[in-house]
Amino acid sequence: MAMIAKQCPDISVHVVDLNPTRIGQWNSDTLPVYEPGLDEVVRESRGRNLRFSTDVDQAIRDSDIIFIAVNTPTKSSGIGAGRAANLEFIEKCARQIARCSHGHKIVVEKSTLPVRTAEAVKRILQSAGNGATFDVLSNPEFLAEGTAVEDLLNPDRVLIGGESAAAVEKLASVYSRWIPRDRILTTNLWSSELSKLAANAYLAQRVSSINAISALCEATGADVDEVARAIGTDSRIGPKFLKSSVGFGGSCFQKDILNLVYLCEHFGLREVAAYWEQVVVMNDYQKRRFSERIVRTMFNTVSDKRIAVWGFAFKKDTNDTRESAAIHVCRDLLQERARLVIYDPRVPESQIRSELQAALADYTGLLSEKNQKLIDSNVTVAKDCYEASKGAHAIAVLTEWDEFKKLDYSTILASMHRPAFVFDGRNILDRATLSKLGFEIHAIGKPSPSV
Ligand code: UDX
Repeated sequence: MAMIAKQCPDISVHVVDLNPTRIGQWNSDTLPVYEPGLDEVVRESRGRNLRFSTDVDQAIRDSDIIFIAVNTPTKSSGIGAGRAANLEFIEKCARQIARCSHGHKIVVEKSTLPVRTAEAVKRILQSAGNGATFDVLSNPEFLAEGTAVEDLLNPDRVLIGGESAAAVEKLASVYSRWIPRDRILTTNLWSSELSKLAANAYLAQRVSSINAISALCEATGADVDEVARAIGTDSRIGPKFLKSSVGFGGSCFQKDILNLVYLCEHFGLREVAAYWEQVVVMNDYQKRRFSERIVRTMFNTVSDKRIAVWGFAFKKDTNDTRESAAIHVCRDLLQERARLVIYDPRVPESQIRSELQAALADYTGLLSEKNQKLIDSNVTVAKDCYEASKGAHAIAVLTEWDEFKKLDYSTILASMHRPAFVFDGRNILDRATLSKLGFEIHAIGKPSPSV
C-alpha cells in the first residue's frame, strides 16, 4: 500500500488494522517490520496520501477499492489441522465489509488463499442486504521479504484475476502508473488464486531439489555449489533458487504447499498430494540432517558445549523468523543439552525466546517447566558474533547475513575452544581462508574435511 501511495499521489490510501499497537508502530519512526528501503517509501507518503488507523468501518465506507491482506495461517486444530488454511480472519473481514458498505466496491484478495475462497467472499458480500454491490478480484502478492521494495518497484509481473472486466481494468490502471502493461497479467479468479500457491510450491521445490542433491554431495565428495552452477547455466533451468541451505523458511512456502496438498487430498488426488508434500518432507530432513551433522562431528555429543548460533531470521535482510530453519536446529541442539549463544542483527531477544518456547512446547501447545528451565539456563542472546563465539566449541551459521562475511576471524578463532568447528548452513564463508586459519569447517553439500 505504501508503494501504491508513493507511485500514485492522487490516490488516497488508508491502511487499517484492529491492532492499535501495530498501527501505532506504522505511525512512528520505528516500523513494525524491517525491510530495506521501506522507511523512505513510508515517510514519503505518510501524512500526504497514506494514512494508518484503526478506524476500519470508516475506511470501508470511504473506499472504492478494498484490499484484504489479513493472515491465513495453517489451521492448528479441527478439520484439516496442520494443512488447511484458517480462513477465520478473511471471513470476518468480508462480513465487516458487507456491513459497512454502500454503493459499489471492488474487494481485492491480497492474502494468499486456497483456490475458490473468492467464491465464499463473494457470497458473504452479496448477502449484505443493504443495497451495496461488489466485484471480487484476486491480486496475489509475489514480493519476497528482504527485497520487497525492489520487487514492488520492478515486479516480474502483477497478476489480477476476476470476472468483471471493468473492475480488473480499474485495478490494472493503478499498477500501470509504474509497471509496463505487458507485465500486468489478467486471468480468472481461480487461476489467479492457484497461481500463487503453484508459484511458491515451484520455488520451494527448487530449494528442496538442490538440498536433496546436497546430501548426495556430502556423501560422494561432489560440491553442491559446483553442481548448482553447472545445472543453472542451462537456460531451461536458470540460475535462481539453486542455493543449497539448511532449509527454507518463511511464512509462505510451507503453508502454501500444505494448502496445495490439502486441496489435492480434498479432490482425491492422492499421488499429486504426495508429490508436493515431499517438498516439505525434504525440507524437514535437511534441517534435521544439519543438526545431526553437528552432533556427529563434535564427537557425538554437544551436551554442555557452547555453540554460537549466527543468524535466527529465515533469510537475510529481514527480522521475520516465521518457520526459520534456525528454530528447528536450535530446538534439536537444546534437546541434546547444548548451550546456545545466539546472535541475529535484527531479531530481538524476546522474539528468539518465544520462538524457542513454541518449538519446545508439547503437542498441547504448553511449555513444560523442564523445557522452560532448559531455555532459561541454556540460551543466551549476544550482541554480536564476537561475543557469541567467545569460549564456543562451534559456530553454526544459520542465516546468510552479509556482516558474517566481513569479520576478523583470527580474533574469533583465538577466543574459541579447539578444534574450532564451523558449520556453515548457508555456504557463505570462505572455506579455504578459514581452514588455513585453523578452523574446521563443515558446509552444506561439501565434503567434510578429513581430520
Ligand atoms: C516467497 C516467494 O519468493 C515470494 O514470491 C512470495 O510472495 C512469498 O514467499 P519469501 O518467503 O519472502 O518469499 O522469501 P524467499 O526469498 O522466497 O526465500 C524463502 C526461503 O527459501 C528462505 O528461507 C531462503 O533462505 C530459502 N532459499 C531461497 C534457499 O534456501 N535457497 C535459495 O536458493 C532461495
